[in-house]
Amino acid sequence: MRDATSYNIPAIVMHWLVALLIAATFPIAWIMVDMQDDSPEQLSLFSLHITIGVSVLMLAIARLVNRALRGVPAAPADTPAIVNKLTSLVHFALYALLFIVPMSGWVMSSAGGHDVSWLGLFTLPSIVVADDSLHHTMEGVHETVANVLLGLIALHTAAALKHHFIQRDGVLARMLPFLRK
Ligand code: HEM
Repeated sequence: MRDATSYNIPAIVMHWLVALLIAATFPIAWIMVDMQDDSPEQLSLFSLHITIGVSVLMLAIARLVNRALRGVPAAPADTPAIVNKLTSLVHFALYALLFIVPMSGWVMSSAGGHDVSWLGLFTLPSIVVADDSLHHTMEGVHETVANVLLGLIALHTAAALKHHFIQRDGVLARMLPFLRK
């Protein structure tokens, strides 16, 4: 279904919830890696970071289910085909990274012998056996894919702002309905 003029409420709520969680979790990650190893403060930030990562993963699944059921609005009629293709590619890559970044963190934690728990309420099963060398490799992988996600978010945000302030075509209002005239 590509004929709606806006995203549905669950799609909008989950889009901005994920954006908020990601905006919070990057500074948390940058701060925690510079803390004293295994200090109580560092372990608390690790737990918060992991809880946010698991939340992003669950929300990514819920967003894709909602998208499959409810569809997405069609692009403005005068959008060049190449721009539509690039937009689809960036959205696909964003969704892929919403899985890849938390999953790489899950593999890293399991390899390091750490629990992946959500608010302490439930714990995900270990995805691999503990292995120091894999843990070390996954630290690099997790950081790299997270930085790729950050770069794509910057590109995506710039495109949304260009739609709003330069093209003035109402695309941002599809994700922020209060902007609608
Ligand atoms: C963590 C940050 C963000 C992520 C991971 C993200 C991800 C996504 C994804 C995957 C879609 C496609 C939704 C779908 O078709 O199912 C989307 C749509 C959209 N996003 Fe974001 N987004 C983020 C931040 C932002 C920000 C900061 C803005 C605005 C300044 C924004 C504006 C939009 C708009 C306007 C759409 C709809 C585009 C259209 O209708 O073609 N997003 N976003």
